[in-house]
Amino acid sequence: MAASFAIASSSSTAYLGSRFCRYVSPLFFSAFRNKYPPFSFCFAHSPSSFSSSSCSSSLRWQVGSRARMAHSTACAALGLTKPNTIEAPQITFSAKDIDFAEWKGDILALAVSEKDFSKDSNSKFENAILKKLDEKLSGLLAETSSEEDFTGKAGQTVVLRLPGFGFKRVGLIGTGQIKEPTATAYKGIGEAVAAVAKTAQASKVAIVVVSTLEGSSESKLHAAASIAAGTVIGIYEDNRFKSESKKAVLKEVDIVGLGSGSELDKKLKHSVEVSSGVIFGKELVNAPANVLTPGVLSEEAAKVASSYSDVMTATILDVEQCEKLKMGSYLGVAAASANPPHFIHLCYKPPGGNVKRKLAIVGKGLTFDSGGYNIKTGPGCSIELMKFDMGGSAATFGAAKAIAQIKPPGVEVHFIVAACENMISGTGMRPGDIVTASNGKTIEVNNTDAEGRLTLADALVYACNQGVDKIVDLATLTGACVVALGSSVAGIFTPNDELAKEVVEASQRAGEKLWRLPLEESYWESMKSGVADMVNTGGRQGGSITAALFLKQFVDEKVQWLHIDMAGPVWNDKKRAATGFGVSTLVEWVLSNSS
Ligand code: BES
Ligand code: MN
Ligand code: ZN
Repeated sequence: MAASFAIASSSSTAYLGSRFCRYVSPLFFSAFRNKYPPFSFCFAHSPSSFSSSSCSSSLRWQVGSRARMAHSTACAALGLTKPNTIEAPQITFSAKDIDFAEWKGDILALAVSEKDFSKDSNSKFENAILKKLDEKLSGLLAETSSEEDFTGKAGQTVVLRLPGFGFKRVGLIGTGQIKEPTATAYKGIGEAVAAVAKTAQASKVAIVVVSTLEGSSESKLHAAASIAAGTVIGIYEDNRFKSESKKAVLKEVDIVGLGSGSELDKKLKHSVEVSSGVIFGKELVNAPANVLTPGVLSEEAAKVASSYSDVMTATILDVEQCEKLKMGSYLGVAAASANPPHFIHLCYKPPGGNVKRKLAIVGKGLTFDSGGYNIKTGPGCSIELMKFDMGGSAATFGAAKAIAQIKPPGVEVHFIVAACENMISGTGMRPGDIVTASNGKTIEVNNTDAEGRLTLADALVYACNQGVDKIVDLATLTGACVVALGSSVAGIFTPNDELAKEVVEASQRAGEKLWRLPLEESYWESMKSGVADMVNTGGRQGGSITAALFLKQFVDEKVQWLHIDMAGPVWNDKKRAATGFGVSTLVEWVLSNSS
């Protein structure tokens, strides 16, 4: 009756970063030229055959006598940090229609609203499920509501230890009033259950949604999927960089009361696959810039392709290849860095062929943004957080990992990231320099800290050249967007109403928040240059809008395009960790274009 699925996310993100080239040639880009020969490949081998290519390649562009290390020790990251390999949560989810009072395990978790917890004139629960369980527990639940002050408000949880029953504990999870059965609300239930399971070191848990869900089996399907997603994400802790950590013990989760059957099982499997992409995205963002260099990011992306070589191929372009493609805007940003840029392109092709739609997802991939000569200084500039400036690329590759597992038919997807660092050195771009993008447009760089758009310019031109119908780009692009929308909502920009609707609906199914802002063409005035086709920044006012207008210069008019500024939602300040923002929305969007 209850088929189960384990999470197969192999979170063995053992980054092998290298950073030895301290001295780069003063000649423009010449430091990059000594690199490994360009390579572009399809994968037909297993992930284990992947050795750290960026290590050997960066050795090649060491110059002079200052090469400090021998070949054998070449793969240490700056600071000697080597992430621990942590196992991704391996949880088996099952949707069951059972009498939960007879269920056996560690925690029977009841998700209850304030309304569910209301009582009749005899102090008995009106809700049939609670009434039955309370009788079995000799009134313990009713007592709890008064003595533990549990009313079912959102955020409240109580765990009661029970001797003599099939389950060791009953957990009460307050859901508050769920006005609309949104993905966010059900994810919250899963996350709360995960927290309780962690504290109790539980390995087997049942989640019972006590409120009878009105409506279609479709909505129950979504509720179960969101609960599963919330549980996986909630149980996961990124301890790769801690010298000691506890292992999660949760292994089995039964979801009770939302039906059972093959459709539900399929949906739960889907949820687990998306969650593995979200976790991958979080790990990429959490990894510091001394570990996750552009080269290592490209290796991680290539691993996704080699793990799912039935549907995914990878092409990684080095500096020479990017020069041939005339990506001067992107290479200008990369020019100050000791870590060479890597242009990354994954391509998903559906198993049965028969492609009806071609999509591109383009992510900003700044593994670190110092600001360059316009260095980030002063309070609130958050330079120490700028490892998260590859959040767009993390969402891109997180989605790639999920899509590779889900294998949607009828749709081809290109995942494109122009990865590099924005650093400072004698070889770097100066404020006032003019760079030339791959579509021939010239840009006067009046601020080296507006680097994301410079890298995206060439990535968008490249995406259009793949012959795609639609492009969504994601970028931690502007501080202005954080000021406008705060840390929970991403801004979206597009000239296309239909695409806006499509992506907003996808985000609602995913439980992520987007808000459309205007692409006000009259603001282009501030982006005009006296000497080049445009400048890269247009002053403080409407900073997110002028950034979006800049990107628009590099998108073919025939291609539908939408830009997501996720500078706010990429990071959770309270948790001091990445959110995995964007992955779920992208997966939902790709699925809505599948046939
Ligand atoms: N990566 C930043 C944007 C950012 C800032 C994200 C703060 C998250 C938090 C981007 O490269 C940047 O520096 N943008 C500048 C643009 C300005 C120079 C026009 C900004 O927002 O200040
Ligand atoms: Mn910047
Ligand atoms: Zn940036």
